[in-house]
Amino acid sequence: MAFGRIPRFSPSFSPSEAWICTKHLIGIGGSDPLVPKFEREFASFIGAKHGIMVPSARYGLYLLLDALGVGEGDEVIMPGLTYFAIPAMVELLGAKPVFADIGLETHVLDPEEFRGAITEKTKAVIPTHLFGTPCDMDAINAIAKEHGIEVIEDCAQSTGARYRGKRVGAIGGHAYYTFGLTKNITTLSGAMVTTDDDAVADKIRSVINQSGPAVRSKAIKEAATGVAMFLATHPWVYWWSVHPAIVVGNALGKDPIHERFGEEERTYETVPTSYVEHAQARDIQAAVGLKQLNRIEELNGARIRNGRSLDEGLAHVPGLMVPTYPEGSEPIYMSFVVHHPDRDALMAALRKRGVDTTTGYMSDLSDHPLFQRFSRPCPNTTKAMKELLHIPVHPNLRETEVAHLIEAVRAATLETTPNSGVS
Ligand SMILES: Cc1ncc(COP(=O)(O)O)c(C=O)c1O
Repeated sequence: MAFGRIPRFSPSFSPSEAWICTKHLIGIGGSDPLVPKFEREFASFIGAKHGIMVPSARYGLYLLLDALGVGEGDEVIMPGLTYFAIPAMVELLGAKPVFADIGLETHVLDPEEFRGAITEKTKAVIPTHLFGTPCDMDAINAIAKEHGIEVIEDCAQSTGARYRGKRVGAIGGHAYYTFGLTKNITTLSGAMVTTDDDAVADKIRSVINQSGPAVRSKAIKEAATGVAMFLATHPWVYWWSVHPAIVVGNALGKDPIHERFGEEERTYETVPTSYVEHAQARDIQAAVGLKQLNRIEELNGARIRNGRSLDEGLAHVPGLMVPTYPEGSEPIYMSFVVHHPDRDALMAALRKRGVDTTTGYMSDLSDHPLFQRFSRPCPNTTKAMKELLHIPVHPNLRETEVAHLIEAVRAATLETTPNSGVS
């Protein structure tokens, strides 16, 4: 920690990944094809039969649904709290996204809400292991089986998390993951689908094989951004550069980090050309992915250690609601999300104490202008979106920083909670 400043996140991209990129760019990275190797090793790490690299998780979902024959007139159930691109892809296939509510404290799909959303048109469900927290997969699988519904796990925020000892992604039959620079492991850009179904894997692979390679300059640009992120979130750089910029941005009503890395919410008329024409991953991405896979237990382990300290240190703080986890769920703490009735005041009080927080990039899609046609009441989702705040939990936080963080959150909560006697 430098001067008490704590960034909201820091990347898993480090000098060792930068060195791998450099070797590939100057042509000394070896000539063995690395994409199939990464696909095999990733699938084996998860415990799935097939792994196929795809350009993004959303396109992975699109390909999985398409391969499963989901389309016009079908319904796909997903949590109200998720990423906009998920219902957007379902709609693009001509199917109807059906939003079901989450558990208020777990933030993941409530199995009984899933049951209540089923109709004779339901073809698939997308249990989203949001914020690194595995859903109650026993219950979801049992309900899905009873109704003949396909299960596609959204592991975009939970690569490596476990449920009752099994990795998420190996529980529902099909899954997708994403490896952008802000995720727990990165392949610069790119994503993966896994499936245990040979026919589904063949169909997806044939679509990817018909496409061209990913644009090389994109991988180079991502690698440069990775280096910049590593430096900008380094304690000795962060305190005098990024943190003041955030404070100034916030004073002007802006979030410079969100503006730089956030994505504008939208729907799709067609599959983006970049996916159709450049869907094949490059060796440089797989090389970084292989290195990250070697480090995943260390990276997730640090998140878990930090997350458990926050669980313990922030329990029973009046005014603050900490997350709970479904039984059997072994979270990787991709985010540590608390609720507070005056979330914006808490955020400001934490900024004053040098802690940068965020409201994240999920939305209440159950009541959203882009998906108005599919609105469906999800009261927990709506309440969560008004109250939630992401507290830093990234793997580069040291024990002393976590202790400082806990004290800062306690003090800021006390200051901002009505009737706490402190103002
Ligand atoms: C829960 C969730 N699902 C899906 C996605 C989409 O991933 P991608 O940007 O690779 O399409 C994201 C993006 O971060 C996400 O957080």
